[in-house]
Amino acid sequence: MRVVILSAGVGRSLFPLTKDRPKSLLEVGGATLLERLLVQAAARGLAPVVVTGYRMGQILTEIRRLQPRLESRVDVVENPHYETTNTLHSLWLARRHCADGGFLVLDGDLVCDDEMIARVLDDPRPTLLAIDRARVMGDEEVKVVCAADGRILEIGKTLPAGTAHGEFTGIAKYSAEDGQALFSIIDEMARGGHETAYYEDAIARLATLRPLPTLDVAGLTWVEIDFWSDYVEALRRFGDAAKAEALASMPAIRRQFLFCPGPVLVSRRVKAALTTPEIGHREMEFCELLNRVRLSLGKVFGIRNFHRYTTVVLTGSGTAANEAVLGTAAVGRRLLVLTNGEFGDRLLEIATHLRLDVQALRTRWGQPFDLGAVEAALAGGAFDALAWVHHETSTGMLNPLGEIAAIARHHGVQTYVDAVSSLGGVPVDVEAHGITFCTGSANKAIASIPGLAFVCGTREAFESLASVASRSVYLDLYRHFRYNDRLYQTPNTPAVTLYFALEAALDEVLAEGLARRFERIGALARRLRRGMRRLGLRPFIPERLMSPLLTTVELPVGFSADEFHERLKRAGYVVYAGKGILRDRVFQVANIGALTARHVDAFLDALRRILEEERDTTTGRDPGRGDRLAAVTAH
Ligand SMILES: Cc1ncc(COP(=O)(O)O)c(C=O)c1O
Repeated sequence: MRVVILSAGVGRSLFPLTKDRPKSLLEVGGATLLERLLVQAAARGLAPVVVTGYRMGQILTEIRRLQPRLESRVDVVENPHYETTNTLHSLWLARRHCADGGFLVLDGDLVCDDEMIARVLDDPRPTLLAIDRARVMGDEEVKVVCAADGRILEIGKTLPAGTAHGEFTGIAKYSAEDGQALFSIIDEMARGGHETAYYEDAIARLATLRPLPTLDVAGLTWVEIDFWSDYVEALRRFGDAAKAEALASMPAIRRQFLFCPGPVLVSRRVKAALTTPEIGHREMEFCELLNRVRLSLGKVFGIRNFHRYTTVVLTGSGTAANEAVLGTAAVGRRLLVLTNGEFGDRLLEIATHLRLDVQALRTRWGQPFDLGAVEAALAGGAFDALAWVHHETSTGMLNPLGEIAAIARHHGVQTYVDAVSSLGGVPVDVEAHGITFCTGSANKAIASIPGLAFVCGTREAFESLASVASRSVYLDLYRHFRYNDRLYQTPNTPAVTLYFALEAALDEVLAEGLARRFERIGALARRLRRGMRRLGLRPFIPERLMSPLLTTVELPVGFSADEFHERLKRAGYVVYAGKGILRDRVFQVANIGALTARHVDAFLDALRRILEEERDTTTGRDPGRGDRLAAVTAH
């Protein structure tokens, strides 16, 4: 039987590792990727065909070096268009070698247990795709959706990770008949101008014509090396721990699953929006884009009456929006800031820095505001503006909107709400609560890219700022309002590309529907909390006070904040250490952005492993602590 190894690509995502060699010549466990696959193929008597392209000369030298150890002669096929074509074209070029019977196709960037190839070959079914049903899947992975009998229904990178059943490993066996059907499809696609298509696009078409059975190889070890982090993973799993650690500590970008409260993982569509053609910000196209974004944003802020209410978009992070509101609207007012955490304190810090007339009503971190005290503070008539944080991200507590806004309204006091980390994840109904100005940001529950922030309020409130001498030029809220609302532009150069990403994210929020989105995020939080409870971890505040966006948990015994963060990061997950006074007491796990239940389960699994490792290293040395951790991890 023949085996086609697809090794033509440049492997740009691995630069600089692949700058001077093709990906298949990276070494794992003392052998190049190509060597591993060729030796594995030889062990099963398969006759190899290697498709090469990028740095072909080096591959030929490697094959000459290996040839004496291999039973069959290696046939080499060149893909001279490796720069502009993909795996579909490479496989098509190898068709002549696959004409005489069944064959196996292997992705050249695969590192796997011998057992995986053996299982596929030993399985009596003549056509078979090896999939892993236990993987957490991201954008770059080829995902599959299967029928109840395991047959492939859909395959591709763009399938939503949440609905896929598994990941394609890159190992496929075809009977002579199915193989020829595959090549007819590839032939048709290659001639039809699909040079940039991937081989799995052809599998997808084949699956609509013939049953393509799958074999689940979950539990076996395999890594497809797309990114630097995959390479580190392969080194770790296949016996090069020291090299893996050395590489992992280099300042390259590793793929990370973000369980922190922003930035968050964004969808493929949001990322793709960043490649929209550049436009000038004084052109009609930008005016239109800005207006579409502002309209969608208004809906997320709970606006129904667009004549009365409007939104303003600023280039900057959430703090920019808070500073614009306080530095413009609160000028000349007597401001009361309610604070029960780090971000309430920051509102106070901004107000103090801007030399506003400000006082604070402090509650202990993690404690709900005392509404009686708020009422009493406003009743005396000493304040005409009130500011607070909706979702106090530092503790995960959701502070009330409606009740506080009602007290303020009763006393004729303006309200400024920081909804930076809640907007898009829980209801923020500015109109229903009559909030004067409410701020939000792009890169948290709205799940877009960092760099844009918003203010929503009534037109009347914005108009009233015309006579205010803002404390800032750049963050003069009235200027931003006037440009956004009158000229459909921005006063200064905006981060144009981020508006495209924001538009895509808002489209997704509204297409999902706010109510359904809130429910989905809440279900993820419940899943996460259930899992962490089972691991014996203790929440920092009672669950009834927590937002459905973020869980703040006491650090497990035996870990500092840095160490715990590092251990999870090495496993691919980013959580945040506690802020300010909570620094070495808690860690925070958010469940916003493009995370799914599978990501949550995999995260919990990684957490369990870390706790177990800690238990194993401490048991014996410190029996009390060991016992506690044993109790923690036994569930
Ligand atoms: C509630 C809240 N307000 C303000 C901020 C500050 O936002 P940024 O870091 O985007 O300026 C954050 C950031 O996490 C936040 O959670």
